Amino acid sequence: MRLAAGVRERVAAVHGGGRLPQRLRLYDGWAARYDQDVAALEYRAPELAAASLAFAFPAPPAGARLLDVACGTGLVARELHRRGFRCLHGVDGSAGMLERARSTGLYRRLRPCVLGREPLPAPAGGFLCLTTRSNPSNLRYKVELEAALERLERQGAWQKVLAQDVERWERATSEEESTQGTGYISGVVYVYRKCPVPPLEEG
Ligand SMILES: C[S@@+](CC[C@H](N)C(=O)[O-])C[C@H]1O[C@@H](n2cnc3c(N)ncnc32)[C@H](O)[C@@H]1O
Repeated sequence: MRLAAGVRERVAAVHGGGRLPQRLRLYDGWAARYDQDVAALEYRAPELAAASLAFAFPAPPAGARLLDVACGTGLVARELHRRGFRCLHGVDGSAGMLERARSTGLYRRLRPCVLGREPLPAPAGGFLCLTTRSNPSNLRYKVELEAALERLERQGAWQKVLAQDVERWERATSEEESTQGTGYISGVVYVYRKCPVPPLEEG
C-alpha cells in the first residue's frame, strides 16, 4: 500500500532536515503527529530497542535503570514497560518531543539534552539505548552520533554492549532512500552500560 502523501512529506522533511538545530525544530513541529506517522511507516525501532535491552539485561527488569536517549514521544518506554522495565529516564533535544514523552507518564525523569553537545545524565549502574536510521540522508548524522558514543567510551563513562544492524527498520519514503529496492530502510540499535566509578585511590 502506498504511503499517504502527507505522511511521506512530513517524514521526508525531517529526514532531509539539514544541520542539528534545524532538525530538532522539525522534530518539535512533528511531535503531535509522530506516533501516527511512524505507525504508517511500520516503524520497528522501539520494539527492537526494547528487545535488545531485554537481551542485554537478563536479571529481573523491574530494578534496571535505563536511559532512553533521543526518547522522542516515548514509544521505546511503552515497549519497555510491556517487558516489565519500570525505572526509565529519558533525554531528547526536542522540547516538543519531550512534552509528548512526559504525557505518557512512563518516565521517572525526562531532561532536555542534545547528544554530542551536552553530557548525558548518568544513572549509576544503568544502561542506555539509542537507535538511528542507516538510510542515505541520515548517514552524516549517524557518523556524528557514533563519534559522540565513541567519545563517551574513551572517557570511560559508558561501555558498548551491542550495536545491532537491522533491516526493514521502516518503510522508505523514496526509491533513493530504499535499501536495494526493498521499499524499506535499515537502522541500528545501540546499547551501552554505565561504567562503574573507579574507587578513589588511598594515600
Ligand atoms: C526518529 S525519533 C526516535 C524517537 C524514539 N527513540 C522512537 O524510537 O520513537 C528521533 C529523536 O531523536 C531526537 N534527536 C535527534 N538528534 C538529537 C540529538 N543530537 N540530541 C538529542 N536528541 C536528538 C529527536 O528530537 C527525536 O525525538
